[in-house]
Amino acid sequence: MTRVCTLSDLPDGSTRQVVINGHAILLCRRGDSVFAIDDNCPHEDVSLSLGAFDGHVVRCPLHGSRFCVSSGAVLDPPAEQNLLTHDVTIENDWIHIVVRPGLA
Ligand code: FES
Repeated sequence: MTRVCTLSDLPDGSTRQVVINGHAILLCRRGDSVFAIDDNCPHEDVSLSLGAFDGHVVRCPLHGSRFCVSSGAVLDPPAEQNLLTHDVTIENDWIHIVVRPGLA
């Protein structure tokens, strides 16, 4: 588990890129929930941190594919692959990501 930032560093409705062991992860906050997905559009390797976040959906800034930040599911083409999601825990205002095997 890796401590990345505090809840106050991630206001409601915002996103923030964090890098763990060279792997870019996008944190997305909606209300009291924080989601973590790979910050890399599988279509053409673009950071989703540059896109729009609305509801529980992030939109790629390049060609507009949308992804569910909760499940990682791709919702629109041209991207065809889902995103990896990462487990998040919040303790004493700190956001932690449970690093997947292979990223540790
Ligand atoms: S690079 Fe993301 S949809 Fe094309």
